[in-house]
Amino acid sequence: MTESKAIPGDDGSAATAPLGGGAGKIRKIAINTGGGDAPGLNAVIRAIVLSALHRGWSVMGIEHGYGGLLSDDPGRVIPLGSDDVRGITHRGGTILGTTNRSDPFAWPVRLPDGSIEERDRSGEVIESFRRHGIDALIAIGGDGSLHLAHRLSKRGLPVVGVPKTIDNDLCGTSLTFGFLTAVETATDAIGKLHSTAESHRRVMVVEVMGRHAGWIALYGGLAGSADVILIPEIPFDIERVCDKIREREAAGRDFSIVCVAEGATPAGGEMVTKTVHGGADDQERLGGLGDLVAREIARRTGKETRSLTLGHLQRGGTPTSYDRVISLRFGAAAARCVARGRFGTMVALDPPHVRAIPLAEALARPKVVPVDGDIVMTAQALGVSLGD
Ligand code: F6P
Repeated sequence: MTESKAIPGDDGSAATAPLGGGAGKIRKIAINTGGGDAPGLNAVIRAIVLSALHRGWSVMGIEHGYGGLLSDDPGRVIPLGSDDVRGITHRGGTILGTTNRSDPFAWPVRLPDGSIEERDRSGEVIESFRRHGIDALIAIGGDGSLHLAHRLSKRGLPVVGVPKTIDNDLCGTSLTFGFLTAVETATDAIGKLHSTAESHRRVMVVEVMGRHAGWIALYGGLAGSADVILIPEIPFDIERVCDKIREREAAGRDFSIVCVAEGATPAGGEMVTKTVHGGADDQERLGGLGDLVAREIARRTGKETRSLTLGHLQRGGTPTSYDRVISLRFGAAAARCVARGRFGTMVALDPPHVRAIPLAEALARPKVVPVDGDIVMTAQALGVSLGD
């Protein structure tokens, strides 16, 4: 990592150039939450708000990504005080609302003929920051939202990012908040599937999220004792998957659990997507691989097979205690970055420290599972089939 430094405690006196261009202390900051929600968002918001209030800053929450800054969007910019963040550390979701359709550089506008046109409204967003007297933005997001924050930072907006995503696919941080809660959900589901799979002597295929990274599948699959784990980083051969099921059968274990990452692909094949509906237009999302794998296993092995997609369950619920603590640490660290004028950065976990790394470094590439890394070797040592 370049330029990363642990963020020391500050004396509250650090000055920085506010958005308006003049020199001066921070007086008002804003927070937004963008992209898919993740358990821990509210804990981050609480830590930012309380850290800011202790420094004498006021805090505005921007509702629904950047929507609250655009006049024709129903989102608002609301003041956040200590009462607003009371009792929210354990709550899933985000009190500010979020969206993965709030790109100010390509804002969807519906034309009179019903078609959608994308317009660059980033200038309006920056102007709106100015109008609200906001000196800095703490953007809590995954790669999509932090890319937007990075682009706004290059246009002069003082920004600090906080890494949020259940997918754990941001570079430079050993963990993103929300990931371990999603893993807990996946582990719990796999645990429950064991008893029904065993009772019925079935193969159960469970599809988990993660986009192009197999972190949730690998952690959840290992913790839940799946027999097969398929991840995007290791293209699979369905025949090898079936071999594992047959091997188990031959050894008297007549049920199996297959954990499939939504972004996994058969060797030489493509990712499976589905069209999701609603909002301004239809969109493609990863999903559906679990059903295909289950069908193929049943066809090739003759075993009764069922599949289950965990989907958005993985994004819901109360954050685990570890996610709560890293979320609180990230929020407090982001406020320290603002106080120190360390803009264009993202807070990152580098145990035992929380550091600030350049946003560009965090976003350079997705963080995927290293195929020669310890976690893959652990799965192999346990005899888990990775379908290769
Ligand atoms: O990035 C988080 C994530 O939950 C992915 O794991 C998943 O592919 C995607 O978001 C689903 O997006 P949506 O909420 O738009 O269905």
